[in-house]
This record gives sequence, C-alpha cells and structure tokens, in this order.
Amino acid sequence: MNVQLPDALNLLCPIIAAMAPGDIIGIISRVLHILSAIILVGGLFYIRSILFPAGVDACYAGRRQIWAKWVGMATAFLLLSGIYNVIIIFGDAKADGVKIPVTYHILLTVKLLLAFLVMFIAAILAGKTEAADRFRGNMRKWLNIGWLAAMAIIVIAAVLRTMH
Ligand code: HEM
Repeated sequence: MNVQLPDALNLLCPIIAAMAPGDIIGIISRVLHILSAIILVGGLFYIRSILFPAGVDACYAGRRQIWAKWVGMATAFLLLSGIYNVIIIFGDAKADGVKIPVTYHILLTVKLLLAFLVMFIAAILAGKTEAADRFRGNMRKWLNIGWLAAMAIIVIAAVLRTMH
C-alpha cells in the first residue's frame, strides 16, 4: 500500500495526541540515545574496519576536529538520555511497587563502565594532546578494545530491556 504523507500524518496525530507528555519525552530520549550510540559506535567501526587499514593518517582525512565535535555531542546526549532512562526506569518500578532484580543493577553498572571506556577511547583517539598522540600510536589496540566494549554494551542493553 502506498501511504501518502497526509494519510500518514492523519494516522500519527491521534496516536501522538493520546500520549502523555512523559511518553513523548521517553520516545525523544530513546531516539537520542540510539542515534548517539549509532554515531559513536558506527564511527569507531568505520575508522577501525575501513580507514585504519590505510594508516593512522587516513583515519580522519585531516578532519579530526570535526569528528572530535561529533564524539563530544554523541557522548553528551548518551549521558543525558541514559541518566533520564535510569531515572524513569527506577521511578516507574518504584511507583508500580516492582522490585528490580539485582542482576539488572549489576548488568547496568557493567554497561555504564563499558560506556565510559568507549567514550574515553573515542575521545582520546580524536584528541589533540600529546596523550592523544600516544594513544594513536596504538590505534589498532584501542579501536579493537573500543569495538569489543561497544558490542558488549549492545548485548547487555538488549538483555536489560527484558528485565523490567
Ligand atoms: C557508548 C555508550 C552507550 C551505548 C553504545 C549505549 C547503547 C544503548 C542501547 C543500544 C540501548 C537500547 C536502547 C533501546 O532498546 O531503547 C541502551 C539502553 C539504555 N542505556 Fe545506554 N548506551 C550507552 C551509554 C549509556 C549511559 C552513559 C547510560 C547512563 C548514564 C546508559 C543508560 C541506558 C539505560 C538505562 C538503558 C535502558 C536499559 C533498559 O531497557 O532497561 N547508556 N543503551
């Protein structure tokens, strides 16, 4: 079926109108979280598998500062939306009188630690300091670690979603 734009809007408007403001903020936060994760992790994947084999200098094509800005923005949105997620999930569980399992707390903590590692690796590899140059000297190692950590984060996030 070929749905025209006005038809799609007619379908969407009542759905959106029926939503509580909290639902809409929740959707925006989820979209921001997933989009930022795509940018940060997708960028690391692209650098590791496509650009890095051509050498460290090929990784940023002379536009390292631009990537550094995207890393900063993606990191900020991941933190903001992630903190919002945590507040809402624990708030809802409390309001419903549901106890969140200890395994959830442990997995969420591991996810956070891995997230900080991925953010740090992306930031330091895009940085302009001497320390950043030293990290870029071991680019393959750090990109591999970052990519492994990112995959673990995605698996943990998928599991977390089934636990509340
Ligand atoms: C590299 C950084 C990160 C990546 C790649 C990442 C990725 C993801 C993904 C893919 C999801 C599943 C989204 C969904 O199904 O709606 C998710 C959920 C979540 N993330 Fe992140 N995230 C990162 C950082 C963070 C941070 C810093 C926080 C907290 C401050 C956080 C807290 C959460 C929470 C609470 C959820 C929901 C888990 C649930 O469904 O129970 N994330 N994350």
